[in-house]
Amino acid sequence: MKKFNNNDFNINNLNETVEVCGWVAKKRNLGGLIFIDLRDRSGIVQLVVRPENKNYDLASSLKNESVIKAIGTVVERESKNMKIATGEIEIIVDELYLESMAHDLPFEISNDTTALEDTRLKYRYLDLRREVVRDKLITRSKVMHSIRNFFYDEGFIEVETPILCKSTPEGARDYLVPSRVNKGKFYALPQSPQLFKQLLMVAGMEKYYQIAKCFRDEDLRADRQPEFTQVDLEMSFVEEEDVMSTTERLIKKVFKDIKGVDVELPLQRMPYNDAINFYGSDKPDLRFDMKINEVSHIFKDTEFTVFKNVLENKGIINAIVVKNNADKYSRKEIDKLTDFVKTYKASGLAWLKINDEITGSIVKVLRDVEINSLKSELELENNDLVLFLADKFNVVKNSLGALRCKIAKDLDIISEGYKMLWVVDFPSFEWSEEENRFMACHHPFTAPKDEDIDKLLDDKANCYSKAYDIVIDGYEAGGGSIRIHNEDVQEKMFRALELTEEQINGKFGYFVEALKYGTPPHGGLALGLDRLVMLLSNTDNIRDVIAFPKTASASCLMSECPNYVDDKQLEELSINAVNKD
Ligand code: AMO
Repeated sequence: MKKFNNNDFNINNLNETVEVCGWVAKKRNLGGLIFIDLRDRSGIVQLVVRPENKNYDLASSLKNESVIKAIGTVVERESKNMKIATGEIEIIVDELYLESMAHDLPFEISNDTTALEDTRLKYRYLDLRREVVRDKLITRSKVMHSIRNFFYDEGFIEVETPILCKSTPEGARDYLVPSRVNKGKFYALPQSPQLFKQLLMVAGMEKYYQIAKCFRDEDLRADRQPEFTQVDLEMSFVEEEDVMSTTERLIKKVFKDIKGVDVELPLQRMPYNDAINFYGSDKPDLRFDMKINEVSHIFKDTEFTVFKNVLENKGIINAIVVKNNADKYSRKEIDKLTDFVKTYKASGLAWLKINDEITGSIVKVLRDVEINSLKSELELENNDLVLFLADKFNVVKNSLGALRCKIAKDLDIISEGYKMLWVVDFPSFEWSEEENRFMACHHPFTAPKDEDIDKLLDDKANCYSKAYDIVIDGYEAGGGSIRIHNEDVQEKMFRALELTEEQINGKFGYFVEALKYGTPPHGGLALGLDRLVMLLSNTDNIRDVIAFPKTASASCLMSECPNYVDDKQLEELSINAVNKD
């Protein structure tokens, strides 16, 4: 076995004979001396092969990324490189062995490679040799270690749950696996271990956790993968605060262990309605201010027809103030912002620039009284830019929520460090335009607030649940809830969701049955491990923190999956693939 890590060697090892192994990261010939940067997982050590060495020709012929073993003596370097741990020494090679010669590479292995991401994903094993990528995997491993230690210390047990399952009620599309033995039937890959962990509570496990693989066939984004990992937990005899404070302690430990950052507890709790009203998002980024302001009342008697029409149609007018930056926004720049909000279905953006003389797209149609109210309520000062959106509630909130994030990014006003909070008091139901009915905001086992149980059937718009999301820097890092453990409430919830007896039994009859045999009050949460590692490794691309990620079209460029299978395999599964391209 390899005896040493390259990074282990320093000035204390002078004159020792050592054996090192690794990849040829770089090779230079300087005045007949061959210098090799030998890389292993730990780092780089410099080898020197002198012209008189019997393996000199081999050293000369080495191509970058070939794997070698060398035996030699540690000596002090003449010109030191204090940027690397081994920079004060080098190894004068006596013996050199070639383990495997590398062919020409598809791209250079360096931190600042210009290779396209597709090329790097096709040769992911080469990409992983780059220090910046490798370090993210090491961080991920440390995060998992820290998490496991936490749960062990807090008396949780780790239980694995099946991958071949019946569909779970998470709401995305399932990945299906055909059963050969049970012809025409399918397993679903778990979107999360939700029902299993609740069954573990029924089974009396009390405190469960799992670092679990989850699969969701949904449209992918920079922070979403079709298969991803959750840190999944469930606890019995708990209330919302218990799960949240356990999660906070976990987050605190992980951030301390990995980043040395002290997270101050308890984290802020923000009601869902405030998050939407002030930040236009259920995952508000609090690293900058720029709140959304409700200004509809200022325009209740407006003569400006666009605003007037919106208010008459029960829409709203909201504004954000870009403090002290109006001079950065030319007409052209504001047009770009208008195009941006249009992608969120907004019809336009009105604006004012505050200076001794106020200018802007709506300055001529506003009355003095409106301008004065805006000035005092929004505390406007010179060089402020005010952006207005008038539309339906959801369009206004979504658009301004996204716009405040874009502007903060463009202006580079996002503060350093982490801003974490809990979003709480989620509605139990959300109205689906598509289905023309109320649907569950989370899953049908999420407990409603005690005071809302009576409203479940006839006042759905005002029912709130015992659900909570943890948000870090504008990312939904995790979410969970207290579950329903009372049969009557569960039955009422099913009725509220208009699920028929047949649908309930077909989808999760076994689960409902289990709740009949003594169910403790319970609740839990799942953190997105990939997102957590992303935040801890300062990247906004989830693929960076997954060893073998999928592309935005859910494929693996390296192994070329998904792919066609033999007709024989399909036949065995009684499947007839109709659309092959
Ligand atoms: P939820 O669906 O909110 O809850 O998922 C929990 C967390 O998992 C992460 N996540 C994802 N990460 C990467 N790619 C994806 N496609 C993806 N989808 C979700 C997010 C999210 O906050 N069973 C419940 C948890 C519970 O109630 O205990 C659940 O799965 O960070």
